[in-house]
Amino acid sequence: MQRAFQSAKIGNIPLKNRFFRSATHDYFANPDGSFSERQVDITEELAKHRVGAIITAITAIRADGISIENQNRLDDDMYIESLQKLCDATHRHGSKVFVQLAHGGAKSLLEADSMIYSPSTIQLYEDMATTEMSVKDIALIIEDFVNAAWRAKLAKADGVQLHAAHGYLLSQFISFVSNTRTDEYGGSASNRFRIVKEIIERIVKEVDFPVILKLNSNLLRGNHFIEKENETYLADLIEMIKEAKSAGCIAVELSGTGFQQLSHITHPYFIHQAIEVKKLVDIPVILVGGIRNTKHIQQVMDANIDFVSMSRPFICEPDLVDKFKAGQFKARCILCNQCFVLPTTKDRRCVFHK
Ligand SMILES: Cc1cc2nc3c(=O)[nH]c(=O)nc-3n(C[C@H](O)[C@H](O)[C@H](O)COP(=O)(O)O)c2cc1C
Repeated sequence: MQRAFQSAKIGNIPLKNRFFRSATHDYFANPDGSFSERQVDITEELAKHRVGAIITAITAIRADGISIENQNRLDDDMYIESLQKLCDATHRHGSKVFVQLAHGGAKSLLEADSMIYSPSTIQLYEDMATTEMSVKDIALIIEDFVNAAWRAKLAKADGVQLHAAHGYLLSQFISFVSNTRTDEYGGSASNRFRIVKEIIERIVKEVDFPVILKLNSNLLRGNHFIEKENETYLADLIEMIKEAKSAGCIAVELSGTGFQQLSHITHPYFIHQAIEVKKLVDIPVILVGGIRNTKHIQQVMDANIDFVSMSRPFICEPDLVDKFKAGQFKARCILCNQCFVLPTTKDRRCVFHK
């Protein structure tokens, strides 16, 4: 347990401890997509209370990739100034910031007649299908990820996280359920991972900036987990993580789908997959999902997993790291998932905390 509170490094970046705040959309971006004072305050409060590294809310690399209301954007230089305020406020307390970059793909919020990108055509609703991206579309998206990483660097962030989990564009490419392409961006695990690998390589080489990757450690077909498919998916994931490492990625954060439905926690949701990854790939692993008490943190540390990451508990208690250090056993978060609803209806983030 003590190990979690000790200083560590991710890539060449020193961290004051092994706690991450996982990317958390707060619905409080300014209407133009810039980072608001309220977002700066939320992040600074976490940093003040010793969260070692903070991953921002999902940030769109392109206007047509916005996937949720009131989202932050980094598709124009005009966003650099407000992001730098957030980075400066975090750095004042010795914590690090990684900007989470994403394109929504088939999950983008667009009008009925707009072009909705995805690796393969997906029938979203009866009257609305997505458009399979051409190789030229893919090249343009890669370019936009790289440009957004440049802006994050200019804003003095410590690195970026590519969001390749939770069903957004990059995870649509990775999954053999949503990617049925037959060209070099579909088919084998290596082909399905190609877009992500090309983004990592270009950010590392051209921007010279650290990249973390967020991945699903499980696979959902419709609303079902199919055991055999999940075994195949995990084997593919190991190969993809090896490729991410060789492209220069400094760490992977393992998440998964279906976390909102898991109300009873016996252990961190995706710890078994994280253990498997640690066995087979020499790369730092950040584990997120269902970490709620010091016993869970101990389980993560005992499994030689490198970092613990939390989202909902920090919405409820931004000072949770301090409380754990002072001896509190468990987080107050009751997994009510109101943090997805309250900011849009009641201007607060948690039933227990404004
Ligand atoms: C309100 C809310 C917003 C979230 N926003 C994001 C996001 O912007 N990007 C992302 O990758 N995950 C997001 N997540 C998922 C978390 O990062 C995390 O993977 C998930 O909540 C499981 O961790 P937990 O059990 O510690 O909450 C969000 C979760 C919540 C509750």
